[in-house]
Amino acid sequence: MKVTVVGAGNVGATCAQIVAEKNIVSEVVLVDIKEGLAEGKSLDLWQTAPINYYDTRLVGSTNDYSKTAGSDVVVITSGVPRKPGMSRDDLISINAGIVKNVTENVVKYSPEAIIIIVSNPLDVMTYAAYLTSKKSKNKVIGMAGVLDTARYRAFLAEALDVSPRDIQALLMGGHGDTMVPLPRYTTVSGIPVTELIDADKLTAIVERTKNGGGELVNLMGTSAWYAPGSAAAQMVEAIVMDQKRIFPCCVKLEGEYGLKDIFVGVPVKLGKNGVEEVIEVKLTDDEMALLHASAKAVKNVMDVLDGMNIM
Ligand code: NAI
Ligand code: 2OP
Repeated sequence: MKVTVVGAGNVGATCAQIVAEKNIVSEVVLVDIKEGLAEGKSLDLWQTAPINYYDTRLVGSTNDYSKTAGSDVVVITSGVPRKPGMSRDDLISINAGIVKNVTENVVKYSPEAIIIIVSNPLDVMTYAAYLTSKKSKNKVIGMAGVLDTARYRAFLAEALDVSPRDIQALLMGGHGDTMVPLPRYTTVSGIPVTELIDADKLTAIVERTKNGGGELVNLMGTSAWYAPGSAAAQMVEAIVMDQKRIFPCCVKLEGEYGLKDIFVGVPVKLGKNGVEEVIEVKLTDDEMALLHASAKAVKNVMDVLDGMNIM
């Protein structure tokens, strides 16, 4: 199996490192437009193999997509990250062109690849890659929910003083301030979280999760990469190992949850065919209203992309 990661910056390099360390594919190709960056990072990473005991070969390329030929999965992280004061949506004018150009190159050399989008604004960049690639909807998937639920689970683990691995959670909607963490679908080893934590504390954690990306931008002056890179790598693993994992991912909806022709986060089954099923859980009227409000916010930015007339 071969995986390409486009963008050898913070998120891309972290994703490449974690995929390599998982020892689940034979080759990871890292591509960047900056001369020598991908070659340098992949060489540095390859030199960790004798220390960290993995066999995954790492190859770097400055914009030469022939090296990516025949990839099974491609992760697109190329683009600019946000700075303090910026929203993810502010990135559309730069990142839409980058995602389009990168997707064209990816499809040319790896027509069968499943594409995972990471670049922001996430839901709309997934839409851009879908339009450009002309692939079926199960093969173009946005990474956001795995990251956002990881933040939610980490905050809960800390508040409850329990292992983060025992926290299962669901979060839906767009990758922005309107995302919808779902306490009703959050458990600690099967115990409803609402039985273990005060309502006020849970509300505060839900709010912190929604601002989880912004909290890190304010601390570091740029957006996060360890958890985003790990989240993308977990999706790669689910696909290449055909694990049938259930994750919240950004996908094209065609009527599920009463939403049509929109890219938004919902629980899906990930396996060797990409999205193998969109899972429709029952939502209360309030939860459904929040999901629809989030989808509307995404649709507004999809309309901005349509208005740019570049696809
Ligand atoms: P970064 O600036 O560290 O890396 C981006 C890399 O993309 C740079 O090395 C740059 O040279 C490269 N690049 C730019 N144009 C390119 C092109 N045409 N072809 C190939 N490479 C190109 O940024 P970082 O922190 O890695 O973030 C990357 C993207 O991921 C940003 O848009 C950020 O907002 C997004 N992001 C999304 C998350 C999510 O949950 N979906 C989480 C974290 C970041
Ligand atoms: C994050 O949530 C900025 O989307 C990025 O960290």
